Amino acid sequence: MHVNLRVLILILQVYKSQTDFFRSVDFQFVGDTSLWKNTSDTTSNLIEFVTAPNNPDGKLNKAVLQGPNAKPIYDHAYYWPHFTPIPAPADEDLMIFTFSKLTGHAGSRFGWALIKDKDVYETMSNYMSLNVDGVSRDTQLRAFKLLKVVTRGRGREIFEFGYKTMKDRWEKLNRALLMSRRFSVQESSPQYCTFSGKVKRPSPGDFSFSSRIKTF
Ligand SMILES: Cc1ncc(COP(=O)(O)O)c(C=O)c1O
Repeated sequence: MHVNLRVLILILQVYKSQTDFFRSVDFQFVGDTSLWKNTSDTTSNLIEFVTAPNNPDGKLNKAVLQGPNAKPIYDHAYYWPHFTPIPAPADEDLMIFTFSKLTGHAGSRFGWALIKDKDVYETMSNYMSLNVDGVSRDTQLRAFKLLKVVTRGRGREIFEFGYKTMKDRWEKLNRALLMSRRFSVQESSPQYCTFSGKVKRPSPGDFSFSSRIKTF
């Protein structure tokens, strides 16, 4: 089976580095998905990483490639209501999440996937256990402690605090860049957020309020 991995430009360079690292005869990294949108090649299987929201522009991308040979993996690292309006509950076939931008604990290396296809789930689960032999107990303990904080106040407090923090920072950045003739930040459109029940704009500034979260 020959699988090509494609991603949208601007996203994680690490997708390329990881794919290249394996130097596999079965798959290769082939770059920007939009270049393959109208391809006449019907023999290759395609995996498309879709960052939604994208880092750093906050855009809720959608898969570009369609058809029976294309399968998207949705990277929802930033799909949290302090960053982005949540237009609908996440419901893709394969979605990956991380603590990285939920609480700002990137270094904890704790993430999870929601996978609808049982065979894909088993392959991924098998790969995970061969690759890292399970998540370390220390990381699990830390993740549980963080989850306790996240679920406080029916799971709303952290997002309200996070949204306010991010919005303030984003506005500060905007004000500072208004004085510049050379730099500006991208326009972002407001959208209805089903989580907060409000129309909101994304606040895609850096997210590092972990020092404010008391876990121990
Ligand atoms: C879009 C996106 N996905 C995934 C990650 C990485 O997450 P983790 O810290 O769990 O490796 C990042 C980190 O910057 C990111 O921006």
